[in-house]
Amino acid sequence: MSKLWTGRFSKETDALLDQLNASLPFDKRLYRQDIQGSMAHSKMLGKQGIISFEDQASIQSGLESILKDIESGMLVICNAEDIHSFVEQELTKRIGDAGKRLHTARSRNDQVALDLKLFTKEQVTILSDLILSMLQAFCTKSKEHLTTVMPGYTHLQRAQPVTVAHVWMAYANMLKRDHKRLMNALELMDEMPLGSGALAGTTYPIDRDYTCALLGFRCPTDNSMDGVSDRDYCMEIGNVCSILMMHLSRMCEEMILWCSGEFGFMELDDAFSTGSSIMPQKKNPDVCELIRGKTGRVYGDLMTLLTMQKGLSLAYNKDMQEDKEAFFDILDTTIHSMQVMIPMFETAVIHKEKMHQAALGGFINATDCADYLTKKGMPFRDAYKCVGQLVAYCIENKKALNDLTLTEFQKYSALFSEDVYTAIDLQTCLAQRKSLGGPAPEEVSRQIKKIEEFLSESGFH
Ligand code: ARG
Repeated sequence: MSKLWTGRFSKETDALLDQLNASLPFDKRLYRQDIQGSMAHSKMLGKQGIISFEDQASIQSGLESILKDIESGMLVICNAEDIHSFVEQELTKRIGDAGKRLHTARSRNDQVALDLKLFTKEQVTILSDLILSMLQAFCTKSKEHLTTVMPGYTHLQRAQPVTVAHVWMAYANMLKRDHKRLMNALELMDEMPLGSGALAGTTYPIDRDYTCALLGFRCPTDNSMDGVSDRDYCMEIGNVCSILMMHLSRMCEEMILWCSGEFGFMELDDAFSTGSSIMPQKKNPDVCELIRGKTGRVYGDLMTLLTMQKGLSLAYNKDMQEDKEAFFDILDTTIHSMQVMIPMFETAVIHKEKMHQAALGGFINATDCADYLTKKGMPFRDAYKCVGQLVAYCIENKKALNDLTLTEFQKYSALFSEDVYTAIDLQTCLAQRKSLGGPAPEEVSRQIKKIEEFLSESGFH
């Protein structure tokens, strides 16, 4: 393996060290960013008169040819310590001495800091679009299910009536926050480290504002030691992804339950389901389980990043090479999960009737029944107790509240009259829950509109 730094050594490095030391197997995916950074750097060197115009021009065309050959598959990335060494060595092979001038006033610490940020900015855009698409999907499907009543749960016990649209808009609000967190992280990381040198800047008259403009960052980083050793943004985005995955995982858990025979609320499309090798009848929600499982993996990667850097003195330390596999895995896993989650959700079918049946059981209108008595003048705590006794009576007699005769009702309170049946009817219970944030169809429509406004403010179409 050829290296950039053999000058002061008297023998070859051990083959096992080479293996341990190399990052090429995983950082080769940064080739585009590395070339982009080198192009900007060499343009700046040329402009500042640090290298000649001729050298700059041949570096530029050499880098262009390398990029083209990698993309066409003509040039295989191998036999180097890392992607930065690979590009420089290949460039020198192609254009000779000018290639050796590219690294003037620059270090690999500089390069890796820049490459990883450029890469992250691209990935953040992909993830941002996916979150917005998922929000759009929530809005579209929720509009179809504004009146699809189902039990809302606490402790996984039927509690009060909600709608599927209300549930989905809950997830939409979580993902909206995830998107905001992602944009905050992007804003904070949008500073360009190139020009930090190995750690202490350089004696050459470089122009960092110029490279910053070429590379499309908001501003250059303000301290060279921080510039080469900041990986905060990896952890911050790792955190954003962990929370996003946690939200997906909760939703997946819910979908797994909904797809069970016991619930029967939902059926996934065949394209997003799997079977069993032995049980011919099985249709399994493996995708949901995988996303739930991969959430733990993303948490683990975040912990890897935090732990990697916690004991590091300034500035660059080789430990930091360990950031990439974990960070790439965070981004790949989260993006892939979102890519599958969206169409799986969009194609899933809701079984309204099953939901309605479940909503009729479990006394989810008991609170409404107590509210009915309260509105007729009984203090809420007394109404609560009275309905509790009614529920006990119903359980004993295998009835729902709606099945009771008026005489039965009146045995428990004289305040009950004929209008109790409308008051505890599911559709009434739903329509009456129109407090801000509640499940009433008109209120959920407002919630949908708000997410749609967010989508258009975010430039989504
Ligand atoms: N491959 C290294 C990394 O991923 C970047 C190069 C810096 N290496 C060095 N010995 N200074 O972090």
